[in-house]
Amino acid sequence: MKAFEFHTTKSIIVERGAAAQLADRIRDMACQSVMIVSDPGVVKAGLLEATLANFKNLNIHVSVFADVVADPPEAIILSGIEAAQRQGADCIIGFGGGSSMDVAKLIALLANNEQKLAEVYGVNAAKGQRLPLVLIPTTAGTGSEVTAIAIVTTGENEKKGVVSPLLLPDIALLDAELTIGLPSHVTAATGIDAMVHAIEAFTSKRLKNPISDSLAKDALRLLSANIHTACQHGDNIQARENMLLGSCLAGMAFANAPVGGVHALAYPVGARFHVPHGLSNSLMLNAVLRFNLRDAEHLYAELADVVFPAAAGAPQIRALSLLNYLKDLAGELGIAKSLREVGISEDDIPQLAEDAMKQSRLLINNPREIHLADATALYKESL
Ligand SMILES: NC(=O)c1ccc[n+]([C@@H]2O[C@H](COP(=O)([O-])OP(=O)(O)OC[C@H]3O[C@@H](n4cnc5c(N)ncnc54)[C@H](O)[C@@H]3O)[C@@H](O)[C@H]2O)c1
Ligand SMILES: [Fe+2]
Repeated sequence: MKAFEFHTTKSIIVERGAAAQLADRIRDMACQSVMIVSDPGVVKAGLLEATLANFKNLNIHVSVFADVVADPPEAIILSGIEAAQRQGADCIIGFGGGSSMDVAKLIALLANNEQKLAEVYGVNAAKGQRLPLVLIPTTAGTGSEVTAIAIVTTGENEKKGVVSPLLLPDIALLDAELTIGLPSHVTAATGIDAMVHAIEAFTSKRLKNPISDSLAKDALRLLSANIHTACQHGDNIQARENMLLGSCLAGMAFANAPVGGVHALAYPVGARFHVPHGLSNSLMLNAVLRFNLRDAEHLYAELADVVFPAAAGAPQIRALSLLNYLKDLAGELGIAKSLREVGISEDDIPQLAEDAMKQSRLLINNPREIHLADATALYKESL
């Protein structure tokens, strides 16, 4: 067996209603001044109310930093760090989607640290000790609660990653009740993002490993079996819980067997056109997987067996059945199917392709090499 390493969050709690008891856990961690990092949508949905009441009952000081925006820019992280320092916060809770969790990770890392944000981009550049950190996902999702990475939008339209084991939280808390009100189109896009994490982890060229493989398969099984129900019957708690667990398993998989071409080509779409992360992945998924088919047919066939357990036939046929299933998913779930629908035209493609080639951190994981001409063709195919 090829040697490999696997890292994940050390405590994962799956419990309906657990967020409303969060203060009890925080008291056990001996923290006295807590900052919850979230966004206006999560606050407006009323998701923090029970949690905040619990803190009040136990007399633990708590503040809410709710300035997070999608694809968080550096300025938001810097102002969050400043707020945490002013407060003297001794514990950070990320409560929301990937955007809120990523911002919480960086605040916990840098609020009590000599290092500046600009110094921690890249792999293992972060040093020192972070504040205690709990992550509570309300989308299913990015899996950020179990990944050692935070994504920041730098400048106008570039994304950079901070990758460090310090970003793995002390606790990931999966409370499916929080996801009941997630709108159908967000459920669809974030759910497809999680499916892409599972698929790209399974085909990851450099760091594919047996633990990630098992997790990726189980994740795809859960996600594909529940995404339609979660979108159509949002109050189905069992489907919601399966989605949340599926996105967490996919997160554990890709945290150790990193994602590739779909994410590399999706990032410029998100950064330049403010298309949500999950949707931009969904838009690029079909073209990139078909491009990869030449080199990843057997792996896609193995994944097809998870989605269609009764399917038979040659690997080529099974692989194609997976790709066809994924191709139809966006339409079935009622989200955009083409780049044009999100305002992108042929004239934008050279810039997008150029930007995608800068995502070398991701491109090196793709099962088939992607060159500039390939990226251009893949965007054209997705128009
Ligand atoms: N760290 C990682 O491993 C990782 C992986 C993938 C993506 N990301 C990053 O995560 C971000 C995307 O995260 P996301 O897709 O979870 O979206 P998001 O965090 O940007 O949230 C999307 C929207 O959904 C709303 N929302 C969230 N939960 C809700 C709920 N339960 N009910 C009602 N509304 C709710 C939010 O208010 C927001 O408007 C991007 O910045 C992306 O780069 C990080
Ligand atoms: Fe993603």
